Amino acid sequence: MDSKQEIFRITRRQFVTSSAAVLATSSLAHEANAVTALAGQPSEQGKSDVRPARGPFRVIIDTDPGVDDALALLLAMRSPELKIEAITPVAGNVPLGLTLPNALRLVEIAGRTDIPVAAGARTPLVRRLVTATYAHGENGLGGAVFPEPTTKPVATPAAEMICQIVRKYPGEVTLITIGPLTNVATAINSDPELAGIVRGLVMMGGSLSGGNITPAAEFNVYVDPEAARIVFQSGIPITMVGLDVTRKTSLTDDHVRTLEAAQNPVSQAAAKIGRNAINHNREHGYLVGPNMHDSLAVAGFLDPSILKLQDYYVDVETTGELTAGETLGYSPIAGDLRRRPGMEKDAAAANMPIRGSAPTLASTKTSPVLRDKFVPNTKVAIEVDSAKFFDLLIGRLSGSK
Ligand code: RIB
Ligand code: CA
Repeated sequence: MDSKQEIFRITRRQFVTSSAAVLATSSLAHEANAVTALAGQPSEQGKSDVRPARGPFRVIIDTDPGVDDALALLLAMRSPELKIEAITPVAGNVPLGLTLPNALRLVEIAGRTDIPVAAGARTPLVRRLVTATYAHGENGLGGAVFPEPTTKPVATPAAEMICQIVRKYPGEVTLITIGPLTNVATAINSDPELAGIVRGLVMMGGSLSGGNITPAAEFNVYVDPEAARIVFQSGIPITMVGLDVTRKTSLTDDHVRTLEAAQNPVSQAAAKIGRNAINHNREHGYLVGPNMHDSLAVAGFLDPSILKLQDYYVDVETTGELTAGETLGYSPIAGDLRRRPGMEKDAAAANMPIRGSAPTLASTKTSPVLRDKFVPNTKVAIEVDSAKFFDLLIGRLSGSK
């Protein structure tokens, strides 16, 4: 459901900088979480090491369902490798008054009312809520109607639930965020030790190749840029699954037909939501079906071979009148985001500090330098095996995998 992305020409901005020790520092962002270095895969280019070496993979899914959130949640609930400790709805695509019951509907459809659902933030940290009902429909599920849920949320608020679960399983819990980051930022702000005992965070969010709701910003980061900056600067090992790869996950009629042919409640619900979303895009003149942004974040965690990752220092624009929510990626590899084969490291880039905007005359700052050398804080997904992704998504939702 991506009415946002076709509107804007994709613009590419990438600041490059680096230190000669860039590859050796790629694990720095992860050393804060000693468990990662012990139990996870070695931190190397192209591999995410936020996934433990063995199951069960304890996860919390923070979400704003949401058409693509719905299929992502159904995928996660059909994946035996995941121990979903909680689902924490947040305001985003639609207000919390809809994302919460939509999450409850989905755990009922999947027969997973064993998973606690904890209500999260109704508004971003410091901004008015901007929703995406134009893309996700007034009910948040693309107009697909399901019965009112009878399941109730737990009384514990989302941020407190996140802190309780992470403290119960220090070093084991991965946060999978597929909506604005308000709940997670609130949890980080409420418990200064949290970032050091979270195993990792896999986000659908951000973009190093232009936005979807504005030319600069991807929706989840756009809704709450301040929350996103708190997360990127927290020290939690982050895998960013942004528009750079999720733009290659358009749901097709063939996918929906496969789901319709499978006779189980999950595939039927996914087909209903997907059919509505494809029809919406067609009616609004878009050439492709809705992108399964959020499912790619879940699938990339389930099977790290689906994504190719590159170390970046990522920061978030929070003061722009036009660019708030832009995620800027600083990398030791100059030039194009997708490293063309044989591209040598740009020697000039290897020694450049990380710069922000020029200080104004009113500022006390005299230098634009934010950091004097490149230290990555994020593994950014730069390539995706779309066929392998859809094989996993449709296979799990239809029950054939
Ligand atoms: O930009 C894509 C993101 O925004 C997805 O999480 C989608 O659900 C919307 O919230
Ligand atoms: Ca979402």
